[in-house]
Amino acid sequence: MEQKRIYLCLAHMSGKEQDFIKEAFDTNWVVPLGPNVNAFEEDLENFLEENKKVVALSAGTAAIHLALIQLGVSTGDEVICQSFTFCASANPVTYVGATPVFVDSEEDTWNMSPVLLEEAIKDRIAKTGKKPKAIVPVHLYGMPAKMDEICAIANKYDIPVLEDAAEALGSEYNGQKCGTFGHFGALSFNGNKMITTSGGGALVVADSEVKKETMFYATQAREAFPYYQHEKIGYNYRMSNICAGIGRGQMTVLEEHIAHHRWIHALYEKAFAGMEGINLKSNPSEKFNANYWLCTILVDKAVTGFDYEELRVKLDDKGIETRPLWKPMHLQPVFKDNPCYVDGTSERLFSEGLCIPAGPCVTEEDVTYIVSEIKNCMK
Ligand SMILES: Cc1ncc(COP(=O)(O)O)c(C=O)c1O
Repeated sequence: MEQKRIYLCLAHMSGKEQDFIKEAFDTNWVVPLGPNVNAFEEDLENFLEENKKVVALSAGTAAIHLALIQLGVSTGDEVICQSFTFCASANPVTYVGATPVFVDSEEDTWNMSPVLLEEAIKDRIAKTGKKPKAIVPVHLYGMPAKMDEICAIANKYDIPVLEDAAEALGSEYNGQKCGTFGHFGALSFNGNKMITTSGGGALVVADSEVKKETMFYATQAREAFPYYQHEKIGYNYRMSNICAGIGRGQMTVLEEHIAHHRWIHALYEKAFAGMEGINLKSNPSEKFNANYWLCTILVDKAVTGFDYEELRVKLDDKGIETRPLWKPMHLQPVFKDNPCYVDGTSERLFSEGLCIPAGPCVTEEDVTYIVSEIKNCMK
């Protein structure tokens, strides 16, 4: 029998999505507002548990963009970003005319190093005479960043935090959900995330006032006039009632998805135990409760005899999709002239790491097969 292809993280529909979409069609709510949007936001607010408000948007990238606008980031400002991330954490900084300043990761979580963060803040103040306008830590692959240390530094210098929790729906730090620590939190519901709305995202905000302001910017900044009056530049970033119907259906299986990702990680942990040269990333201590959106390994070539790229090609041949870890932003040609505060951590991770399949469609048999194929490469 031919081996099926195993993908990194595929969307998985609960079945209820179609009911909510049908309701939208039947009631003619086929617009970027409506009952599904309201209910999806409420479901997310309840899930996040911190009395936060949520605005459903067309993408996680849009959420980051709107947060930066509301933080007053504009031309000539600097924003501190995590270098080890997907480009969407930093790109919106450039949309508002500001400059991303990149900070490297620490070893425990692979997220923003609090030590380098403070070094960067001090140095930017010394060099430019002004403070960075915001800090954008990321919970990469669903592993919570060290939010108590990061927030303490942010408070010390009075710089707002915009948390990129695009990959971290359901992850917890000290028992608190990721996305609820900062002044703003960005979530993504892209096709490969913990839940999907096909494409979509959300901004987690402090209260109803900020929610109103976010919705204002997300709907072309229409002032309260009977005619169309615009005093600010707005955007068309609201989530459609159709996509929100998918989101409502997905919310009914979110807890199952999170449990499944964690179970798959536990299976890998058991299967890789004692295997020299392959290091699975796990919670560094009990403070951290990753959702394990993607499971990740580091390959020690000195032990295995092959590097991550050789392993990727071999596994691809066996029907297993894997992907190199994110290439750090400070190594990206588009950001080559941006200030950066790095110590080699993310460069090393990029040169050793692979994401391995983890989504709701991955089975126990798949994990056994993936690990046995990695073992076969060692022979
Ligand atoms: C870390 C990170 N930030 C931001 C985003 C942007 O989200 P979206 O694709 O919904 O715009 C993503 C995902 O794509 C991501 O992985």
